[in-house]
Amino acid sequence: MVCLGNICRSPLAEGILKSKLDPNKYIVASCGTSNYHIGSKPDKRSIDIARKHNIDITEQRAAQFNVNNFKTYDYIYAMDNSNYQNIIKLASNNTEINKVKLILEELYPNQNLDVPDPYYGGEQGFEDVYQMLNKTCDTIVSILEKRH
Ligand code: 4NP
Repeated sequence: MVCLGNICRSPLAEGILKSKLDPNKYIVASCGTSNYHIGSKPDKRSIDIARKHNIDITEQRAAQFNVNNFKTYDYIYAMDNSNYQNIIKLASNNTEINKVKLILEELYPNQNLDVPDPYYGGEQGFEDVYQMLNKTCDTIVSILEKRH
């Protein structure tokens, strides 16, 4: 799960998807394309929204996307078009490019939708992000269950 800062959207996405998958079968992680918040805890507003939905993301610490992630992970989900482009720029072949997908494409194919950055907004923005990620993660789980 990849966003810009790895403190708002992708920590929520990581926590939500992890809560829906068997930890013995899947590794779920998140990072940011920027180095702005390396080592930081998730934003308090993301922690609070996650907790409201019974998910604990307090142990997460922000990391930056790096090219090894292309080898470690089978699926790389970008939260928005800008992050998608930044990840793709680092890919070295089509196998790597094909691992990267805009996350909302799983729920709303061919619409090119972004998970909006809630950083400068209020709490409702975080709840909205939670709701869209929760729905998309349900779709991701059914895709994974069919493929693996
Ligand atoms: P995120 O949100 O990409 O969802 O973690 C942001 C967090 C911090 C900044 C931008 C977006 N920032 O510019 O510091």
